[in-house]
Amino acid sequence: MIIGAQFGDEGKGKITDYLSAAANWVVRFQGGPNAGHTLVVDGRRIVLHQVPSSILRERCAAVSGPGMVISPTDMVEEIRQLGEAGILRGSLHISERAHLILPWHRMEDAWEEEMRGGQPTGTTMRGIGPTYRDRVGRWGLRMADLSRPRLLKEKLERLYATKTHIEKKGRTLASVGDVADELTAASEVLAPYIRPTEPLLWKALDRGENILLEGAQGTFLDIDFGSYPFTTSSHTVLAGAFSGSGIPPHTPEEVIGITKSYTTRVGNGPFPTELTDEIGERIREKGGEKGSTTGRARRCGWLDLVMLRYSSRINSLSSFAVTKVDVLGGEESVKVCVGYKGKDGAAIEDYPPTLAEDMALVEPIYEVRPGWPEFTQQLKEKIREEGWQAIPAELGSYLAFVSQETGTPVRLVSFGPDREDTVLLPPALPHGGRPLSEWKGGSA
Ligand code: GDP
Ligand code: IMO
Ligand code: MG
Repeated sequence: MIIGAQFGDEGKGKITDYLSAAANWVVRFQGGPNAGHTLVVDGRRIVLHQVPSSILRERCAAVSGPGMVISPTDMVEEIRQLGEAGILRGSLHISERAHLILPWHRMEDAWEEEMRGGQPTGTTMRGIGPTYRDRVGRWGLRMADLSRPRLLKEKLERLYATKTHIEKKGRTLASVGDVADELTAASEVLAPYIRPTEPLLWKALDRGENILLEGAQGTFLDIDFGSYPFTTSSHTVLAGAFSGSGIPPHTPEEVIGITKSYTTRVGNGPFPTELTDEIGERIREKGGEKGSTTGRARRCGWLDLVMLRYSSRINSLSSFAVTKVDVLGGEESVKVCVGYKGKDGAAIEDYPPTLAEDMALVEPIYEVRPGWPEFTQQLKEKIREEGWQAIPAELGSYLAFVSQETGTPVRLVSFGPDREDTVLLPPALPHGGRPLSEWKGGSA
């Protein structure tokens, strides 16, 4: 189980690709084309949006699961591009229960952002919120509807009738006929991939196969447990993995929270450790902190242990994977937020304020830690060859600190975007737990 422990873009795609070497199945369980998951394999950069990050692995089946909202036209394009690049290697299964993002939803997304006046969410404009809203309202269309043209048209007409208020605001909506045509064209490409996916996974579980669930976004973008209303519209936390995949809750063996060695956020909303100075700028530059989906500059800040403690608890994390440790390499010292001072002066350690307005007012309390050396090519090669023993001592101590402060061991460290730039820590370091011996990522 892979869960983003922060505000998204923690490196979930890279870690999923790495760990999928030992998986038979990888399942996305929520979100849609708002996600941008980047893999770098043999120097080649691939950004995935709706297809799971295992697609390069021939022996691993990829499932775009029931909890997702999928843009059929974008999915066609993603499949086409992956096919052309010769990297659609594993089989792909799209859940017939996944909801369809329609052109109307995108229009509503843009329109509603304007309606929020000075407080837009800063969405990815992919129609995510309106599609989930129609799902909950029971107006939505699903992948299964694509195979029934007459029914599809009827459902589109009913849905369209709920949207005509937008036209009264002077916006032109795509016609039912145009949307139906678009869906019919997409359906021709997607039909071979659409099926009930839960039975595939249940049978895989019965056979004892390895299933890896790939979260999108991050814990603090969860619709209930994130910094509402500056969140996405799905459950990004562990609980969402079960309802979004159809896999029973008692099954996970490992829940890995992905965190950067610092924090980033794209879009609006509170961000206690945000750096608006030259250090933030340096991290953005060096870390290439630009949205994988929208190209927007990501806001950057120090690592926040209040967030990670909360993440660990709500997701029942068995370990952390810490990414982008190379980006902070060369800093003389690094700060870590170990707590907040709330607006009434009270200390906050592990439960960030519920109201975004209060979260915006907390004052981070920092501990300063020694920095670690620059990640030169030589150092990277040394770690690749010798493993965790070659990790610089100051970084080892930083990771041990994160581990002690959150009560969650760090088991995996990523020191570059490439699949190869990854090292496992032994279970005894920084402190004990179940071995990750079956996770031997790293080769196709
Ligand atoms: P995701 O949405 O969680 O999959 O993350 P993104 O792909 O949106 O953003 C993570 C970015 O960091 C991508 O550009 C990755 O290629 C890159 N990346 C991942 N891990 C590392 C790392 O350890 N070091 C560096 N320098 N880049 C990394
Ligand atoms: P991955 O999977 C980072 C943010 C948007 C906005 C808010 C709501 O790559 O980590 P939405 O379009 O979902 O309605 O936008 O959530 N957001 C992300 N931020 N990574 C993502 O995905 C995100 N998906 C949505 O910027 O603030
Ligand atoms: Mg991303």
